[in-house]
Amino acid sequence: MNTQERMSRLLWRKSILALAVVILASCFGDAEAQRIAKVPSKRYTGPGTTPNLRNIVVGRCYHYMSLYPATGVKDCNRIWQELTDAVFRKDPCNITEEDYQKLAQVTEQTIPCDKSLLWSRTNDLVHRYTKATESFMTLEDTFLGFLFNGLMWCGRTAGPGMNYNACPAWNECANNSRSSFWKMASATFAKASCGTVNVMLNGSTDGAIARKESILRTVEIPSMNPNTVSNVKLWVIDDIEGQDKNSCNSESLLELQQYIEEHNLTYSCIDNYKPVTALQCVENPNHHACNQCSIL
Ligand code: APR
Repeated sequence: MNTQERMSRLLWRKSILALAVVILASCFGDAEAQRIAKVPSKRYTGPGTTPNLRNIVVGRCYHYMSLYPATGVKDCNRIWQELTDAVFRKDPCNITEEDYQKLAQVTEQTIPCDKSLLWSRTNDLVHRYTKATESFMTLEDTFLGFLFNGLMWCGRTAGPGMNYNACPAWNECANNSRSSFWKMASATFAKASCGTVNVMLNGSTDGAIARKESILRTVEIPSMNPNTVSNVKLWVIDDIEGQDKNSCNSESLLELQQYIEEHNLTYSCIDNYKPVTALQCVENPNHHACNQCSIL
């Protein structure tokens, strides 16, 4: 056998060996993937990731930029990437606010002073109000809040991808993928707010005007910067059909006032702020509370 023949036989053996390695690796790879797929994921009690999550988030991203060009140009695919980096391959009960920091950075937005509207126990009314007037901005009207409002997501420890079967419910574990996200988003919004920060509260509900564990109390008030926020203005709004259970001089409001002042913030309060009452009357024009004399 001459040298050339020996070389070509050696090359042939090497190629066979390489092929075998590739086949074996892919077999083991498949086996591993199948093993992972068969591992039953932990059962959570909340609904699973929203179907078509990626398309919804990326679509909302482009939609927001077209509605509000002042947002500037954002990289919608990068935003998706940062969300997946925060949750993929991780225990959905062990996601912290820090895990979402890069997502917060790529969605950063300037919040105009005097426009922030926080809320507690008025989820429906506050959003009907900002939609109708466009004079204020809730977290859900900001870029980050708009992208993820009403959606559910969580990853899986077993590998990349979302868990479409089940995710932790809000209170199922302290650091879950959804509650940590909303805490991070709420803190980011409160930190970026300036001038007068308005807060819509429900004067018709039983119990505390804002729950002790509410995001307003635990995240947003402590996150506001006393150097840039000149006033925290509470609007106590009664349901048009509801009773007047709380008003600016109720014990619950005075307690909240003290809490706000403990954070070196200035406080003011207004009962049944007229522009909101006007909206309630547009929605219920024949209600006795809406005759011209009572709302003027
Ligand atoms: N279980 C389920 N959902 C909860 C829970 C909970 N225990 N706590 C908070 N949430 C989520 C839900 O999505 C709910 O609709 O927060 C929402 C509002 O809860 P509220 O008690 O009405 O208000 P609060 O906790 O103060 O959150 C509202 O946070 O989202 C920001 O800027 C926003 O100022 C607003 C505040």
